[in-house]
Amino acid sequence: MDKLRVEGGKRLEGSITISGAKNAALPLMAASLMAETEMVLENLPELADTASMLALLNHLGVASERQDEVVRFSPASGKRTTAPYDIVRRMRASVLVLGPLLGRYGKAKVSLPGGCAIGTRPVDLHIMAMEAMGATIDIIEGYIEASAPDGLKGADITFPMVSVGATENALMAAALARGETRIINAACEPEITDLAECLIAMGASITGQGSEVITVTGVSGLNGCRHAVIADRIETGTFAIASAMTGGHVTLNNCRPDHLPALWDMMRAAGVGIEETATSVLISAKGSPHPVDVTTSPHPGFPTDLQAQFMAMMCLAEGDSVISETIFENRFMHVPELMRMGARIDVNGGNATVHGPAKLHGAQVMATDLRASVSLVLAGLVADGVTTINRVYHLDRGYYRLEEKLSACGALISRVNEKE
Ligand code: UD1
Repeated sequence: MDKLRVEGGKRLEGSITISGAKNAALPLMAASLMAETEMVLENLPELADTASMLALLNHLGVASERQDEVVRFSPASGKRTTAPYDIVRRMRASVLVLGPLLGRYGKAKVSLPGGCAIGTRPVDLHIMAMEAMGATIDIIEGYIEASAPDGLKGADITFPMVSVGATENALMAAALARGETRIINAACEPEITDLAECLIAMGASITGQGSEVITVTGVSGLNGCRHAVIADRIETGTFAIASAMTGGHVTLNNCRPDHLPALWDMMRAAGVGIEETATSVLISAKGSPHPVDVTTSPHPGFPTDLQAQFMAMMCLAEGDSVISETIFENRFMHVPELMRMGARIDVNGGNATVHGPAKLHGAQVMATDLRASVSLVLAGLVADGVTTINRVYHLDRGYYRLEEKLSACGALISRVNEKE
């Protein structure tokens, strides 16, 4: 198992090219199950999670071929409809094949994803959406067994809370349902808009994406298409925070700054210089950040996937800040690890009070989930001495060549094999 070794104290300077978004890529890949002709996705990042989705699609009869960032998907063959536990347990987002399989074949058997480090993360809303469209769902021996022998029917689906994944599943299933579906209280994340645009290019009829009500008029079949995955806003935000923490001067290229309005507001409030263009952003920082209180919320609010990284930055602030997590329970697993590096943080339910400024020092720390792990890398960049981050496979799920991208801007970071 690999570790990351970070030697703190280097200011980041230079430029970083942002990769395609993991969270946009996964539903787009799932949509390939519905394509009757070849589909091509560009800017598809090479990550452990996208590899898991390729393995699942392969199991479901979709062959794929990767050439750098471009992946071609053959139309599904064999009408296979079972997503087995062995693949789904590796990645929760595997549940995104439920809507496409049910929409296309009228049946699906998808393993329940099981436990997850950042909370219980149920899939009841995904199931509720399929039931609203006329599917019969049984949970049998750990599998969601869904069937709609006469096809799905358009319906009004009102989500009681905002769910990115359930909105995506509903959107894909509705694309092939009979009649009109309205998804009410839909997620507005840029990844939803990207999925809707790809489905439209495949022949679907969708309006309202990016707003709280999405209307879908079902069609009888979908083609493949060529589509470029949007830039990863979480990778963008992570490197922006890393740059600011080191007092750096870094340009992030190939990104969409307009997908991160709340982050820029908070970073500006912390005193960080942010200069945006349509496809790049320049981060420039001097001295310690000001303390800023942050509350996570659905888009366009502050993303939960940047909460841990922002907390790492607030450890350096001149004063106290309160970070409130409203999306996931138990998403403060980075707190004890940051405290091992010298941070002073009190957690009370969903609120963490960060007492700054802390003098961070290198330590052995444990990665627990994707975003928690990267916050430890960021803390390591500014800590005195060496930080070793264990269980790096969490990072490999979502960051493409993290250590290479940071080293190119002057960070002292390297991957070490456990045996060394
Ligand atoms: C997606 C992202 C993840 C991000 C999250 C919130 C992907 C692959 N992952 O996850 O990185 O942190 O959005 O922005 O895109 N919920 C239910 N029942 C359900 C579904 C969700 O109660 O059936 C709850 C969850 O437990 C959570 C909240 O809804 O508290 C939001 O979760 P959701 O938006 O569904 O997250 P994901 O789609 O799993």
